[in-house]
Parts: sequence; structure tokens; C-alpha cells
Amino acid sequence: MTVQQPAGFLDKLGTLLPGRHDTWRVMDKKPDLRGRTALVTGGNSGLGLEVARGLARRGARLLLPVRDTERGQQAVAALTATCPQAQISLLALDLASLESVSACAQAVAQQTDRLDFLINNAGVMAPAHRLETQDGFELQFGVNHLGHFALTAALRPLLEAADGGGTVVTVASLAAGRNTLHFDDLQSRHRYSPFGAYQQSKLANLLFSLELARRAAENGWNLHARAAHPGWASTAILANGQGATLPAPLGRIEQTLGGAVLRIMGQSAARGAEPLLYAALSPDARDGEYYGPQGAGERHGRPGPARTPPTARKPSLAARLWDISERLTSTSMG
Ligand SMILES: NC(=O)c1ccc[n+]([C@@H]2O[C@H](COP(=O)([O-])OP(=O)(O)OC[C@H]3O[C@@H](n4cnc5c(N)ncnc54)[C@H](OP(=O)(O)O)[C@@H]3O)[C@@H](O)[C@H]2O)c1
Repeated sequence: MTVQQPAGFLDKLGTLLPGRHDTWRVMDKKPDLRGRTALVTGGNSGLGLEVARGLARRGARLLLPVRDTERGQQAVAALTATCPQAQISLLALDLASLESVSACAQAVAQQTDRLDFLINNAGVMAPAHRLETQDGFELQFGVNHLGHFALTAALRPLLEAADGGGTVVTVASLAAGRNTLHFDDLQSRHRYSPFGAYQQSKLANLLFSLELARRAAENGWNLHARAAHPGWASTAILANGQGATLPAPLGRIEQTLGGAVLRIMGQSAARGAEPLLYAALSPDARDGEYYGPQGAGERHGRPGPARTPPTARKPSLAARLWDISERLTSTSMG
């Protein structure tokens, strides 16, 4: 069962730490997104829900592809409670299935003839033991990277049909700088480390975003690509990944302790969503760049340029990952 994260005492405690006073202003309500369409993966929870709210507040029509209809309906209720005018369509998507990704892209094409924003946000973190997607990929590499790679490829015509080109924001993480790509074992078949595989998948997210921007510029694709990370944000990511896959008592401890650390040391999900919105909407955001919080260690604070880890700045690595991703997902993006 997916854990939802209510705000509370621990979040307030976090705001009392040095440098954590909530004095910075969130991005203002501009630009006006009426008439624009946005798709947010993982939009029923955590950061995705807050990005969806930020886009809906500005008038965008939302396409929310979800794994579970009930959780999707709860998200629609939460969004319309704060944005009564929000136009939201729920779709089905399981990023752990290439068949589902393809069906989702077809459903999107039935709903709209152009897509202004694609927010590649959904993710799973550090299951305690190695799990696989329906297509036999290690779960984190499969969901976080390959599923989004295939979705972006399938939606490219709709993105290119948007006025001025659609914008693809791919959500990476501070974890992206903590590992490299293990091309000899991308699926962690020989050695599985829960956080190692997560780090690899988040580096793949970042490399993909930067390579998408390069290829769009080189080939004249009418789309924009930026990456973003939320710092540390108080969401249910630990509880849903690691916590849910440990044996019951350990899982509960992990859910409680891990959740508490994120809530005290991190920022709220709404604040964590700001760099993602900044990458999508700010007039200062540039293609091929990476955005995150500006506070200590990029863990919290107002959004702005993020430090790109050296491994992610290697075009040869990105090109190799791109070729492998095309092969594994049977897509051809060019
Ligand atoms: N929170 C942080 O501090 C932090 C830090 C760095 C990066 N991030 C990144 O931020 C993104 C959002 O995470 P979050 O913190 O908001 O966590 P979250 O609240 O657990 O949200 C994760 C979302 O991903 C969806 N999802 C998971 N597996 C999926 C699948 N197979 N197909 C489709 N959707 C799937 C979940 O849907 P269900 O409700 O169906 O499970 C949920 O909506 C992730 O990419 C994560 O790596 C988070």
C-alpha cells in the first residue's frame, strides 16, 4: 500500500533549524498557462502532486497518469480543493511496463493534439531487495529511467506540436552525483545495492535530460529539455520504496525514522516542487541545464541553478546510455 505523508510537527521542527526559516518567496503565479496542457508522472503524490498543483494554479490543463485509480481520484480531490477551476484527466500508467507506457501515450494522443509540458517525475527509491519490471529490468532503472525514456520518445510528436515546443522536465536527485553507470551490469543482476541502483537510475535521469537537450538542439527538434532536483523533500519516497520492502518490523522502523529525517532535514513537498516548476516555467531556465534548491548542500531553499556532477557532464556516457535505452525499450528517438 502506498503511504501518504501528512504534514505535521516534524515538518515544523525542521523549519527551526539554522538557515531554514521560510523567508524565501515561492515563484509567483506567472506565467499564465491557460490553454496549455501538462502531463505529470507520479502526479498523485508528493512532489508530483505539488507540481501538478503549481501548473493547475496557473491554469494548465492536467493529464495525470496513475497506477491506481483510487489514489488518482484522491489526488484530483486534493487538487480541486485548492484549485476549483482545475481541469484534470486521469489516465493509466505503470512505468514498470513498456506496454502500459505505450498505451498511455496512445491515450494522451486521444486527449490532446499537443503537449506543452511533460514532467518526468515518478520514481521509486531503494527497494530492500532487487525487483524487476514487467520487461525484466531492475525496478529503479526500469521505472525511473527506461519508463520515462520510452514515454518521452512516444510523446515527442505531441511535444513538438506545442506552440514554441513542449518542455520536458526530468527529475533527478542529489543521489545522481554519488555513483556512475555500471554498463557491465545496468540491471544490477550480479550485485544489487538498494541505494546504488537508485543513484544509478537518477544519474541516468540527469544524463538523459542533458542528452535530450543536446539532440533537440542538433536535430532541430521543437522541444525543450531541463533537469531538476528537489533537494530533500518531505514525501513518502522512503516509505514507499525501502520501507515497504523490508520485513514488517524493520520496514516500520525505516518508514518512521527515514520519514522523520526527510521531514526534519528536508523541506516541504511544495517547496521541493519549486525547482521542478522553475525548470518548467522560469524565464531564466535554459535547455540542457539543471535546477535545484540554493541552500546548504542544495538540500533546501529557493530554486536556481544546481551543480551538475562531473559524471553527468560526459556526453560520451550520455550517448552510450541513450543507445542502450533505445535498444532496451525498442524505441528510436534519433
Ligand atoms: N523526496 C525527496 O527528497 C526526493 C529527493 C530527490 C529526488 N526525488 C525524486 O522525486 C520524484 C518524486 O518522488 P516523491 O519524493 O514525490 O515520492 P512519492 O511521494 O513516493 O511519489 C512517487 C510517485 O511515483 C509514482 N510511481 C512509483 N512507481 C511508479 C510506476 N511503476 N509507474 C507509475 N508511477 C509510479 C508513485 O505512484 P503510486 O502512488 O502509485 O505509488 C507516486 O505518485 C522521484 O523521481 C524521486 O526520485 C525525491
